[in-house]
Amino acid sequence: MKKALELGCGDLKEANVLTDYDVLAIDKKINGTPAAHVTALEADYFDVEIKDQYNLVYSNYSLCFNKKEVIQSRLPKILSHLLPSGIFILNDFSNNEKTVLKRTNLDETWFFDLIRSNVGEFEVKREQIFEEEHGHFHQIFQIQAIKR
Ligand SMILES: C[S@@+](CC[C@H](N)C(=O)[O-])C[C@H]1O[C@@H](n2cnc3c(N)ncnc32)[C@H](O)[C@@H]1O
Repeated sequence: MKKALELGCGDLKEANVLTDYDVLAIDKKINGTPAAHVTALEADYFDVEIKDQYNLVYSNYSLCFNKKEVIQSRLPKILSHLLPSGIFILNDFSNNEKTVLKRTNLDETWFFDLIRSNVGEFEVKREQIFEEEHGHFHQIFQIQAIKR
């Protein structure tokens, strides 16, 4: 079975529906029950010693809660566990949003250079979504890069 690694899985809603993959889903706090194909690990993903190689590494609205220095120093190690032709997918908040000022802005050259040099080329898609829960719009972006 193909392997996927999720950084910041939250309540496991994505990991649990990714039934084509054997998923390692990591979060500091997991609220949910892992499906049979999911291994849920409560930890800081930058502290976990990743052992396997993955066909897919993905993260939704999580990386930006970490410091730039930590992302720069530790994300490359995680991305080295992507298999050749493996896919990296990131959805995160983009910079033209006030709340992001409290977070690390990943919609920037330093981050894109990091992904380009550790995974491969990609295009950036930006859009606006309305979040029912908090009653406001989020500016988000997505990148999908294929490991060279
Ligand atoms: C906004 S939530 C998103 C959760 C889920 N991906 C989703 O889309 O619903 C951000 C999550 O990232 C987790 N997180 C952020 N940095 C983390 C880290 N370094 N290690 C583990 N979990 C982290 C938080 O605990 C939180 O559950």
